[in-house]
Amino acid sequence: MLIENMPVITEEEVEQALRFATEQVVRNLPAFTHQFQKAYSEDNFYQPIENNDWTTGFWTGEIWLAYEYSRDERLKAAGEIQIESFLNRIENKIGVDHHDMGFLYSPSCIAGYKLTGNEMGKAAAVKAADQLITRYHPVGEFIQAWGAMDAPENYRLIIDCLLNLPLLYWAFEETGDTKYRDIADKHIHTAINNVIREDYSTWHTFFFDMKTGEPDHGSTCQGYRDGSAWARGQAWGIYGCALAYKYTKREEYIEIFRGVTQYFIDHLPKDLVPFWDLEFTDGDDQPRDSSSASIAVCGLLEMIKYMNQEDAASYKKLAMQIIKSVYQNYAVKDPKVSNGLVLHSTYSNHSPYNTCNHYGVDECNSWGDYFYMEALTRLQKDWVLYW
Ligand code: GLY
Repeated sequence: MLIENMPVITEEEVEQALRFATEQVVRNLPAFTHQFQKAYSEDNFYQPIENNDWTTGFWTGEIWLAYEYSRDERLKAAGEIQIESFLNRIENKIGVDHHDMGFLYSPSCIAGYKLTGNEMGKAAAVKAADQLITRYHPVGEFIQAWGAMDAPENYRLIIDCLLNLPLLYWAFEETGDTKYRDIADKHIHTAINNVIREDYSTWHTFFFDMKTGEPDHGSTCQGYRDGSAWARGQAWGIYGCALAYKYTKREEYIEIFRGVTQYFIDHLPKDLVPFWDLEFTDGDDQPRDSSSASIAVCGLLEMIKYMNQEDAASYKKLAMQIIKSVYQNYAVKDPKVSNGLVLHSTYSNHSPYNTCNHYGVDECNSWGDYFYMEALTRLQKDWVLYW
């Protein structure tokens, strides 16, 4: 079927999907209030972990989205307990030696602060912003993703980091301190100028020369090979460009958003849910990454706020077509099948040409579930961003 003829999700389906997701989150509270979901499920079931991975904020974000939908006080109480854990984590520097402070603190602590005025959430998120800016390199003007700061083999940014920057804009707005905004502006500019290739496909990671700060080379970690487009990296690019525009209002980011989005669309299989790398399509014996579909939908639904009516209508239709497929073909509908929300995601798929380990392949993952709920919430109401 041609993409323009694919069905869009209906209001009733959005409602059904959000209701089920909220019920599923509530069912999970006994095991996942004092602990967190692991990044990915095993045989479609998540196990509990301590608050020590880069992914734990997504589960707390699901709790807050479920609270927004239902106003169920049990969810609010659980979200508050989790915020205490995030404050403890940043105060004691537990697993925060990397750039994912936004993924951790936006959907958990900023969400709780915005929704309920939770002051502990605000304090924790400001500390997380302070932690994030310690990873900024003036030489090269970017925030380093991983590893020790003085090693040339770590002197790189990754496309995913675009989602960590709203934390800095929020910290600027809350504290009035321009250093947060200035670092975010610089990183965005460096990232967008380097990770996006001429054809609007994207590098997962990009290295800089440690002495001069000059751009050096792109490389993949989680994609299939260096020159391919890792599906989730492309999706982070779509949402990242929308957020970059929201916070900077730099006109050129709109065109880049269009290009990155078009590349994604042009490489989708028939059911509009990408394989884990955009190199693959229908007929390839490769796993999907349903999380990329939901992340892209959130980016589309953010960007339409800043577009003319005609463009906004067409991107909104596309978003509603993609999320319809996620709902229809990938979402969990029976708690006996999974304690997650969306099946068939891929966290990290080893290939002969990439540098990642192999885990969480064809499973639920925590951000796939979170962004599915965020996409539905965006369709249900005028949502105030956690990002
Ligand atoms: N940010 C890491 C990932 O998307 O797997």
